[in-house]
Amino acid sequence: MAMTDKLSQLTMDEKLLLLVGRDNWTTEPIERLGIPSIRVSDGPHGLRKEYVKEDGSAGTVDSTCFPTGSALAATWNPPLVREVGAALGDEAAAGGVDVLLGPAVNIKRTPLCGRNFEYYSEDPWLAGELAASYIQGVQSRGVGTSLKHYAANNQEFDRGQVSVEADERALREIYLKVFEIAVRAAQPWTVMCSYNRLDGIYASESSFLLDRVLRRDFGFEGVVMSDWGAVHDRPRALAASLEMEMPHRRESHAALEAALRRGEISEGEVNRAAAGMLRLIQQAVDGRTRRVTSYDRDAHHALARRAALEAVTLLKNDDEVLPVSPAKVKRLAVLGSFAEQPSFQGGGSSHVFTTRGEGSLGRLRELAAKAGVRLTYHPLIRPRSASTAVEGMHDALVAVSEADLAVLFVGTDHRLESEEFDRTTIRLPPGIERVIELAAEQNPNTVVVVQAGSAIDMSAWIDKVKGVVFAWFGGESGGPAVADVLFGIANPCGKTAESFPDSIEDTPAHETYPGTGGATWYREGILVGYRYYDTDGLEVLFPFGHGLSYTTFEYSGLAVTPGEAGPGTDLVVSFRVRNSGTRAGQEVAQLYVSDLVPRVLRPAKELRAFAKVDLAPEESKEVRLTLRHDAFAYWNRSLGEWHVRSGDYQLLVGSSSRDIRLERRVKVQSARDFS
Ligand code: GLC
Repeated sequence: MAMTDKLSQLTMDEKLLLLVGRDNWTTEPIERLGIPSIRVSDGPHGLRKEYVKEDGSAGTVDSTCFPTGSALAATWNPPLVREVGAALGDEAAAGGVDVLLGPAVNIKRTPLCGRNFEYYSEDPWLAGELAASYIQGVQSRGVGTSLKHYAANNQEFDRGQVSVEADERALREIYLKVFEIAVRAAQPWTVMCSYNRLDGIYASESSFLLDRVLRRDFGFEGVVMSDWGAVHDRPRALAASLEMEMPHRRESHAALEAALRRGEISEGEVNRAAAGMLRLIQQAVDGRTRRVTSYDRDAHHALARRAALEAVTLLKNDDEVLPVSPAKVKRLAVLGSFAEQPSFQGGGSSHVFTTRGEGSLGRLRELAAKAGVRLTYHPLIRPRSASTAVEGMHDALVAVSEADLAVLFVGTDHRLESEEFDRTTIRLPPGIERVIELAAEQNPNTVVVVQAGSAIDMSAWIDKVKGVVFAWFGGESGGPAVADVLFGIANPCGKTAESFPDSIEDTPAHETYPGTGGATWYREGILVGYRYYDTDGLEVLFPFGHGLSYTTFEYSGLAVTPGEAGPGTDLVVSFRVRNSGTRAGQEVAQLYVSDLVPRVLRPAKELRAFAKVDLAPEESKEVRLTLRHDAFAYWNRSLGEWHVRSGDYQLLVGSSSRDIRLERRVKVQSARDFS
């Protein structure tokens, strides 16, 4: 008998038991009717599953720590993200977990947000597509996901009660759009509501968010789970259609009973929520029949390395200082203990316990030896010590001055980028900035490798170094991946999925973040990230979609068919990308749309499609991207729905949001125009 057929056999009390977690990680079983408990576990880039050791203390299972969300986003590779999702699904399955609590997809409104390392992008179309791939990957292995944190949880400061004040265009076009794309494409088993309020109402109690938008507009068919402790009034949350409060909260059951007695909630609302829980339990029971019970840890370690490699983003490479060329480099000075003790994830509930964390140093030594390069290493900064006390500075700087190339490994770590608090600066710690300056004074051929989860303000030192490699938080095997890029074993292909501003003062949220008196006003509206910088013509350190390669790519032959688009008529945009350099490489071609005669505020450009192509030297491939009618739409508040204005639009194809290679004007016909 299907679980949902058991609804009529459940007593009211049993239905209420299903609506509140049994403990931190599991739901209540109803043994009488053969309804099992199901288990959920963090997190987005690795299974964090707690267990009780023989001595009674708490332990966490050893799991693969994959690159975190911002690193996966830098791959711009949905099939790869799906592969990582499938591997995570297998690890969850082997750990007896029914729902993995990821992906985390909140839009990067400010680079200061402590959890940006978990999140994908400032752009909802990129984030939504990657989230859909992740969900499809995990759920293909019989394990559910929890798309989180719904919605507008874009800062950690005061997250438990801050009220986000955002206009409906910003919500629909930016903060909700990522959830819409992922729900429509992948139907996650659950969506996790966030802690914060929206317009003064907790997300857990917002029928606008949970029912009107998520279920009726987006077509979500699953269960809404609360973030841990995000329910303040269980009956109100039920009335807003939240089915699953986590974790267990003793008073909730009684509160529901009392509200039912007082007629504040109806039996129909209880039945609807209980039916949702029975559907979720059915999905878990069905999933258990097709799950693995073990997985290949080495294969997952290798996949984590492949993903980390595709995330590595070459931000700067003056005079082709990279890759290391044995013809030019006989002496290589490596500085910074991040080379040996890498920082590869952030702090908080997503933190993965792994026994396989690897730095770059071992692989660097191996590659240097093969290439006949003499490598010296000076740990210098000890990021885990209380201070950034610098040990061995003199010797290190002598080594730098004598080297043909110096590579500094720097970054942040879980103490600076974490759940529960935001960063107070996007600059590196002063001690680290000083070391970069000192090294660059000793040797113009200085390269900096940054291990961090989100944009860094490099203004203090960027002009003093020749190269910057952004490793992101690359997971347990990100270290060797970076070494392969430095020595040219691999050609970097990562692209930023977030803008790198010149300074935090330039960011659109700077004036209003983190808010005052319990409210934070998203006054910048839809102008988030590159939508702001490009519309206002602001300079940035590195633009959205930026990433260099050891080869070069040429774009040609842009064609758009048909020449004019209308409702129900997709545009096919085709062009050729050629590898005009001397080594194989991957390019992410990006397609942006711009309204040339906007009747309402529209960003200068908006990403609408992209493709990653792998090309041998001299090889060229045709890229074909489809633009549906909604690629031209904006949210019209008067209509309360999406609207496309008839008129001329510019299509822009490029290697980044500011490296546009091809353009074409197209006409778009609307289904409904205004005078
Ligand atoms: C935390 C996080 C959420 C996580 C949950 C369970 O507060 O916000 O992402 O999945 O609680 O640990």
